[in-house]
Amino acid sequence: MKRAPDLSGAFFFVKRKGWREIDRDEFQLTYAIIRGYHLKRKRMLIVFYSFTQQTRVLLKRFVEGLEREGIEVVFERLEPVTPYPFPFKTDFRLAVAMVRTFLRQRMTIHPVSAQCFADWDCVVIAGPTWSYHPSGPVLDFLDRYGQQVCAGKRVIPFISCRSYWRIHYWTLKYYLQKYQAKPLAPIVFVHPIKEPWRFIGLVLQMRGKMVRKEKSWFRKHYPGFGHNKEQGDMAMEEGRRMARRLLTEDD
Ligand SMILES: Cc1cc2nc3c(=O)[nH]c(=O)nc-3n(C[C@H](O)[C@H](O)[C@H](O)COP(=O)(O)O)c2cc1C
Repeated sequence: MKRAPDLSGAFFFVKRKGWREIDRDEFQLTYAIIRGYHLKRKRMLIVFYSFTQQTRVLLKRFVEGLEREGIEVVFERLEPVTPYPFPFKTDFRLAVAMVRTFLRQRMTIHPVSAQCFADWDCVVIAGPTWSYHPSGPVLDFLDRYGQQVCAGKRVIPFISCRSYWRIHYWTLKYYLQKYQAKPLAPIVFVHPIKEPWRFIGLVLQMRGKMVRKEKSWFRKHYPGFGHNKEQGDMAMEEGRRMARRLLTEDD
């Protein structure tokens, strides 16, 4: 499929000349039709779950990059029927959650919307790592809808984690291959702080006990929970890179 070239320069020229009131999309489309180009906007579905909003914040920047390059993006947020409360009220409850997630216990989600079953050029499955595995809501999504949504499509695993993401990725890849999807290289973001601080920080955050004093000894080692601004910028660049790949690749 040929892509129409970017005509924004010509558009502003015509507009300045005042030849006629014409809007940008109309101009580009008309030109493409005249030249015999076939214009088809690439569309991406992003299925995601985010417990402490780290994945969601990175996805926002990722989408910024995609949209800058003209990709149409639609989100599908997975909503657990009975989510974990945040923060965890006791250490015991946190420990139980860790064990359950380690055993890959599914967390039942509400039914996904009909848009998931449309014909997407690419699907992103995004979420946190939970005890080395994909989160419970993502596992439930894969069990119930993975085949229908992903079969025959390019799928990008998008992972936010403290540090250990490989088993999470291998699990996603296993399901995607089973459903005849085409898994692409994963996009992974790990918390950018050294151990043991990032582990201690995660536990404190999960228990709602993060040290508030910015000038404290602990915060000197652990400026904040989760991802930083540079990673947001990297996510945006990933979005642009992925968009360019989608736009130049054949279907
Ligand atoms: C129950 C639970 C288990 C977790 N297990 C892991 C793990 O095994 N490996 C890891 O790197 N991060 C682990 N994390 C940390 C999250 O993956 C990380 O904080 C992520 O950035 C959260 O993303 P979210 O805010 O989108 O949910 C765990 C978090 C929770 C709540």
